[in-house]
Amino acid sequence: MKRVVHVVGTGTIGEPLIGLFTDFRDRMGIDEVTFHKRTPLESDKARISHLLARGAKLATDRDRVNSFENMGHTVSLDAQEALERATVVVDCTPAGNQNKEDYYTKLTGPMGYLAQGSEFGFGKPFARGINEEALVAGDDKYIQIVSCNTHSITTLVKTICDEGENGNCLERGNFVCMRRANDITQVEKFVPAPSVGTHEDPQFGTHHARDAFGVFQTLDLDLDLFSSAVKLNTQYMHSMWFQLRLTRDMELEEVIERFRANLRVATTSKREANLVFSFGRDHGYYGRILSQTVVVLPTLLVRNKREVYGFCFTPQDGNSLLSSVAATLWLMEPDWESVSERLEPIRRWVYHEV
Ligand SMILES: NC(=O)c1ccc[n+]([C@@H]2O[C@H](COP(=O)([O-])OP(=O)(O)OC[C@H]3O[C@@H](n4cnc5c(N)ncnc54)[C@H](OP(=O)(O)O)[C@@H]3O)[C@@H](O)[C@H]2O)c1
Repeated sequence: MKRVVHVVGTGTIGEPLIGLFTDFRDRMGIDEVTFHKRTPLESDKARISHLLARGAKLATDRDRVNSFENMGHTVSLDAQEALERATVVVDCTPAGNQNKEDYYTKLTGPMGYLAQGSEFGFGKPFARGINEEALVAGDDKYIQIVSCNTHSITTLVKTICDEGENGNCLERGNFVCMRRANDITQVEKFVPAPSVGTHEDPQFGTHHARDAFGVFQTLDLDLDLFSSAVKLNTQYMHSMWFQLRLTRDMELEEVIERFRANLRVATTSKREANLVFSFGRDHGYYGRILSQTVVVLPTLLVRNKREVYGFCFTPQDGNSLLSSVAATLWLMEPDWESVSERLEPIRRWVYHEV
């Protein structure tokens, strides 16, 4: 059977994902990559041509075919047909839940579906390196790749607090997500000055801690997490302050050792987001750092033996890309050892040091 990955949406997250699947499809065991672009825009022409030149096939709605063809693009498939013949559908729009209701639940062809961070409730929440064992082959056809800051929170907690067979040593985790205003691919929603967020969730503060709680719940862990958020007038990267209160003593050396031992965590001595971002631009895939988080080593502190403090930078959409690829490969062949092998071609962008 032909293995087809179909990406819906060509925005900040969809575009690099289409490129990545086409670049590495042979080594990942993928036969064909298709994508759905909804709006025919002159300003998007070059991006679409580039994706087509890499070998991806364009699908669009029937009433848009002429507009795309008039721009010189080859339309290979009707949107509905592309969904039905896909093996895995990767929704990269802010409308994943709506698309699930309108289309995905009515399809019989695909083996599974992914949606991204904003689509709470789409399916089982997932982050690579955190809850692989929670995904059940055959049952989990719908998977939500959690947001980039949720990747950072879950990675910090798991890396520092996981005690293997002895459970988890987190008493409480507090996080301040200092979000970049808008992505450099976007022109709207820039903020002129820091804009503080409300605590809309009485238990978790913001959705970041709530979503991280949801990921750990899939592992039967009930953790005390709280987050606040502020948008900064920068386009570079999300930064995060964290405090992890532990149920046992931990030396700073152990904290550093734990971060260094996790190959999906990058550590850095850089304290400026622009320098970390620039590293991604110079060395990353599509400019992205695929590590789960970038921990700033000089900021780490252990207070009163049981409180770990520090800052990290969130490789926005880089960590979601890694989890999206891993979950797609798992849906096609649910064997994590084989997924690790098929992820090999992109491992060099999962930096251990920045
Ligand atoms: N940006 C990040 O750093 C980041 C990181 C992690 C997760 N995410 C998540 O990824 C998702 C997408 O975010 P993004 O930043 O990539 O968005 P984006 O740059 O605004 O792109 C959205 C894309 O979705 C398409 N689209 C929107 N509604 C659609 C619909 N109903 N049917 C088909 N296509 C539709 C748009 O297509 P047209 O242009 O063709 O209309 C556009 O290509 C969100 O859930 C977000 O939370 C984003």
